[in-house]
Amino acid sequence: MRISVLGTGYLGATHAAALARWGHDVVGVDVDVRRIEQLADGVAPFHEPGFAELLREGVLSGRLAFSTDASAVDSADVHFLCVGTPQLDGGHAADLRALWAAVDALAPRLRHGALVVGKSTVPVGTAALVQERLEDLTAPGHGVEVAWNPEFLREGHAVEDSLRPDRLVLGVASDAAEARLREVYRQVLCDGVPAVRTDLQTAELAKASANVMLASRISVVNVLAEVCEAANADIERLTEILGLDSRIGPRYLSPGIGFGGGCLPKDLRAFSSRAAELGVETASQLLGAVDEVNVYQRQRAVDLARRLLDGRPRGRQVAVLGASFKADSDDVRDSPALAVATGIAALGACVHVYDPEAGHHLADRLDLEVRDSAESACERAELTLVLTEWAQFGALDPVALGRIVRRRVVVDGRLVLDPHRWTRAGWQVHALGRRDPDPQLDTRRRAG
Ligand code: UDX
Repeated sequence: MRISVLGTGYLGATHAAALARWGHDVVGVDVDVRRIEQLADGVAPFHEPGFAELLREGVLSGRLAFSTDASAVDSADVHFLCVGTPQLDGGHAADLRALWAAVDALAPRLRHGALVVGKSTVPVGTAALVQERLEDLTAPGHGVEVAWNPEFLREGHAVEDSLRPDRLVLGVASDAAEARLREVYRQVLCDGVPAVRTDLQTAELAKASANVMLASRISVVNVLAEVCEAANADIERLTEILGLDSRIGPRYLSPGIGFGGGCLPKDLRAFSSRAAELGVETASQLLGAVDEVNVYQRQRAVDLARRLLDGRPRGRQVAVLGASFKADSDDVRDSPALAVATGIAALGACVHVYDPEAGHHLADRLDLEVRDSAESACERAELTLVLTEWAQFGALDPVALGRIVRRRVVVDGRLVLDPHRWTRAGWQVHALGRRDPDPQLDTRRRAG
């Protein structure tokens, strides 16, 4: 099939490359000239395991092309909308400007009977508005149809999530649209991936609802961690026990400095805002609390750092390991790690940051000093914080690192360190969710 993909961010670029792998002829279109040049040259514009290989394979096979010119979509019969829908400046709702720009650019170029498939995360009701707008902008009887087919890909796993998704959601208004989507995904369907056919609204809600569930789960676990801390209980054993309950399962039960990134926080807020518009007040009550608990974890980490610097952070040297919002990604959008690093720098500390992939995003930051290795960031540090769950941080040698730092005090913001190993190497190991190993500090904390 000939397919166009509008928007070539994480989602669009990965989707386009996956479609080419399945044997379709694909063109990715974006207004970002530099990004399109890179993609056309087979160069990955972001860090995503396996993406560079998939991209090169598509480009070299001739099945995958990229363009900034809207006319590149002319020969396609199926068009995927993969543009970003960020949070509106100064509000919680989704900013749909890029979506409408893509729809307007697409409308005059659509062939008779084309299928326009939304993948972007949008407020429920948007697909119906896209259908209306396309009908307004095309000749009567043009037969353009809109479908919604949300993605659930995680950064750091975008390729595997695209090639082997847990499920396909086919939000359609007709059998013909379903048949075409099944043709697009023939390969994955043959591999046994379940597909759920539904209406457009339910499909739109599917993505945001999944993120709302995941975000809520993380905030619940962070509340449990705080209770464990207060009750001298063990959050790691507790989550292990919960995870063994087949109704709960073990994933998304990691406590720490909370969730961030380009999706979970903004999808939570956009969902809540749309629910309020629809008159569902309970949604904003519940999700407002989920959001608050999440943001509070960042403050808890900054407060802990201040206490560990004896309440006198000004001029003290602090090492922060991790800046991306999660491991295996260079994305720093709404990153809890970066927010904590910034919060500690705002207290007057000299913060040295190392991240395996995200350092280039911090080059212009005046409040943070970017280092090119964990060792270099930790040199003469009086406090070390591990804030992103990169595997390489879990593998750090506490003995070797202990010789570099000024004080062996570490905060494990993602529970990636083995506390016994670090303690044996002479470190004081602190973590959100674990009672402080220093009883004096604990008493001070309790006293406020
Ligand atoms: C998320 C959804 O998982 C994905 O389905 C959707 O398509 C986009 O949004 P992503 O933004 O890549 O994906 O991040 P995810 O892996 O879900 O992690 C989000 C944040 O939650 C990260 O900051 C991560 O560190 C944090 N997290 C995750 C926890 O704090 N605890 C956990 O147990 C899991």
